[in-house]
Amino acid sequence: MRPWTNKTVALGVVGLICLIIGTLLSCMWPLVFEGILRKELPLTQNSRGFELWKDTDKLPLFIDFYLFNWTNPDELREEGKKPNFVQMGPYRFRERRVKVNVVFHPENSTVSYDQMKYWYFDAEHSNGTLKDRVIALNAVAVSAAHTIRYWNPMMQGTLSYLLASSKIYINKTAGELLFEGYSDQIISMGSLMASDDFEVPPFDKFGWFYMRNGSTYFDGHFNVGTGEDDLANLGVVKLWNYKDTIKNFHTPCNAVEGIAGEFWPPKRGTEDISIWTGELCRPLTYEYSEDVMHLGIKGYKFSLGEKSLGNNTKRQYPHEQAKYFEKTTTTEDFFSADVTTPRNANSNNKNINEDNPDVVNIGRCYCNGECTPMGLMNITACRFGAPAFVSLPHFHKADPILRSQISGMNPQDDIHNFYVTLEPNTGIPLDVGARLQINVLLQPSLTISFFKDVPKIFFPMFWFNVRGGVPDEMAGGLRQLLMLPTSGLYGSIILATIGATLIVIVIIVQFIRNSPPLPGKSRRTQATNGTKTELVYMDTTTPPDDHERNDRPLQPKN
Ligand SMILES: *[C@@H]1O[C@H](CO)[C@@H](O)[C@H](O)[C@H]1NC(C)=O
Ligand SMILES: *[C@@H]1O[C@H](CO)[C@@H](O)[C@H](O)[C@H]1NC(C)=O
Ligand SMILES: *[C@@H]1O[C@H](CO)[C@@H](O)[C@H](O)[C@H]1NC(C)=O
Ligand SMILES: *[C@@H]1O[C@H](CO)[C@@H](O)[C@H](O)[C@H]1NC(C)=O
Ligand SMILES: *[C@@H]1O[C@H](CO)[C@@H](O)[C@H](O)[C@H]1NC(C)=O
Ligand SMILES: *[C@@H]1O[C@H](CO)[C@@H](O)[C@H](O)[C@H]1NC(C)=O
Repeated sequence: MRPWTNKTVALGVVGLICLIIGTLLSCMWPLVFEGILRKELPLTQNSRGFELWKDTDKLPLFIDFYLFNWTNPDELREEGKKPNFVQMGPYRFRERRVKVNVVFHPENSTVSYDQMKYWYFDAEHSNGTLKDRVIALNAVAVSAAHTIRYWNPMMQGTLSYLLASSKIYINKTAGELLFEGYSDQIISMGSLMASDDFEVPPFDKFGWFYMRNGSTYFDGHFNVGTGEDDLANLGVVKLWNYKDTIKNFHTPCNAVEGIAGEFWPPKRGTEDISIWTGELCRPLTYEYSEDVMHLGIKGYKFSLGEKSLGNNTKRQYPHEQAKYFEKTTTTEDFFSADVTTPRNANSNNKNINEDNPDVVNIGRCYCNGECTPMGLMNITACRFGAPAFVSLPHFHKADPILRSQISGMNPQDDIHNFYVTLEPNTGIPLDVGARLQINVLLQPSLTISFFKDVPKIFFPMFWFNVRGGVPDEMAGGLRQLLMLPTSGLYGSIILATIGATLIVIVIIVQFIRNSPPLPGKSRRTQATNGTKTELVYMDTTTPPDDHERNDRPLQPKN
C-alpha cells in the first residue's frame, strides 16, 4: 500500500478544489457575466441608467444644424442653370431629453412615457449666429400647391391668386427657419380651410422646429419594453401613440417596430437593428458595416444603407407578424400588384424565396405611391401632405441623379454617414451620429400658374447631425466592466491550472515514493539534509513490508 502523508493529502485536496472551482468558474463565467447584465441592464425605477434615461441633462448630447443657402433663385426657370447651394453652419444646440408621465407596467415588463426635448443654442461652437440671413425655397407655398393638386379648379384659382403675391423663395434668418418660425398668409388661409378630410398643421407659423422646444406633442407617446422579462425586449417600442400600427403607410410598412433609441439590446451579433423614428413615422434599419475601436473599446459599427434608402428592399416576415397585414391584402396580392419587379427578377438572390408569401417588397410600401430614386424616404404622409423627403446629408448614398440636378452637394462618408457604434456585449452605444437631410419636392403644376414652368427637383433645405455616445469620463468604467468576462475567465483558468499542477505534483511525488529505491543511499543522505523532505524520503526508502511499519508512528496507514 501507498503511504500518504498529511501534507500530500492536504495538497492534493487543495489542488482538487482549485481545479473544480476553476473549471466550474471558467465554464460558468459567461453565465455569471450574463447574470450581472441581466440584473444591471433592465430599466427599472432603481436601475443605474434610470436617472440618465429620464433626463439626459448630464449627457453630452448635441445637434448641429446646417442650412442650405440658395444663391441663385432668380435663375430657377433658366435653361441650363442649376440651383446652387452654399452650406451654412453648424448652428449648434445642446439637446436635452426629458421623459414625463413615466409609468412602469411590471405585469407586461413595459414602461410608458412621453418625451420632451429642449434645445439650447451654443454660440461658442456655432459658425454663425441665428440672425444669419438665408435664402431658401418657399416650402409653405410649395406644400400648399402640392396639397391642393387634386382640388377643384376654383379653389386652385384662389390659391393661385394668393400665391401671386408670394415668391418662390424666402429670405429669413436661421433662427426663424429653425425654432422661431415665421408667419405666412398661406398658413393663415390654410387654417380657415381645415376640415375633416383636409388635415392642416395646427400651427400659426412655419419653422422646421417651430413649437418643438419643450413640447411632448412631436415625439408621441411610447410604450417600451424594460427588458425585465427578456433582455431582448430592452428598449423595444411595443406601442406608439397607443397602437402597434400607424395609419401613414400601407401594410406591412405600417408596423410600429424597432427600438426607441436609448437602450440597445445587448448580446447582439451583426444582424440588422431597427430604430423607431416617430418623426418619420417609420423605422430606420441599421446595417452592420465594420468593427471599430472607440475610446479603446471594440464596437460594431452599423450604418443606414440600402434597406432604408432603397425603393426595392425585400424582407421576409416571421409568419406571426402577418397579423399586421391588412385582411384585404395578402402578401401574395402585394407582390402581384408590384408590376415593376417581375417575381423572378431577383431569383439569383438566394436569401429571397420568391414563392414565399412572407417575403414582401417593403421598399414599395414605403414609397406610398410614386417611388423615388434610391436615397430618399417619402414622409409626405407624415407631414400633413407636405412633399417632404428625407435623405442622408448631401444626398450621400443616393442615386447620383439627385445631385446632378443641383450644384453644391459634396457627400463624404465620414461626415455625412448615419451610424451607431455599439459595444456588442452590453449594447451600450459608444458613438452615435444621426444625420439626416430634409428635402422638399418642387414640381410643376398645370393649374397654378405660379408653378407652371418650374423644373422637378428635390430641393435640399437643411440637414442635422445629432451626436452622442459614451462620455470620455465614463469610458474607463465601461472598459473595466468589459474586462470582467476576460479577467474572470483568466482568473478561473489560472485557478484551475494551479489546481491541476498541485495534483500532478502530488501524483509525481507519490510515484517517486513508490518506485524502487534505486540509488537509495544517496537519497537518504539527501533526505537527511532537509527536515522538510525527510519524511517523504524516509518513506520511499522503507521496505514495502507493512507489518514492519506498524511500529513507526510516522503516518497512519492508508
Ligand atoms: C446667402 O446667399 C445670399 C445670396 O447669394 C447672400 O446675399 C447672403 O449673404 C448669403 N447668406 C449668408 C449668411 O452667407
Ligand atoms: C463657416 O461658414 C462658412 C459659410 O457660411 C463656411 O465657408 C466656412 O467653411 C464655415 N466654417 C467652418 C469651420 O465650418
Ligand atoms: C427652449 O426652451 C428653454 C426653456 O424653456 C429655453 O431656455 C431655450 O432657450 C429654448 N431654446 C430655443 C432654441 O428656443
Ligand atoms: C402593458 O400594460 C399596460 C397597463 O396594463 C398597458 O397600458 C400597455 O398597453 C401594455 N403594453 C403592451 C405592449 O401590451
Ligand atoms: C409620396 O407619398 C405621397 C403620399 O404619402 C404620395 O402621394 C406620393 O406619390 C409619394 N411619392 C412622391 C414621389 O411624391
Ligand atoms: C428605384 O431606385 C432606382 C435607383 O435609384 C431608380 O433607378 C429607379 O428608377 C427607382 N424606381 C422607381 C420606381 O422610381
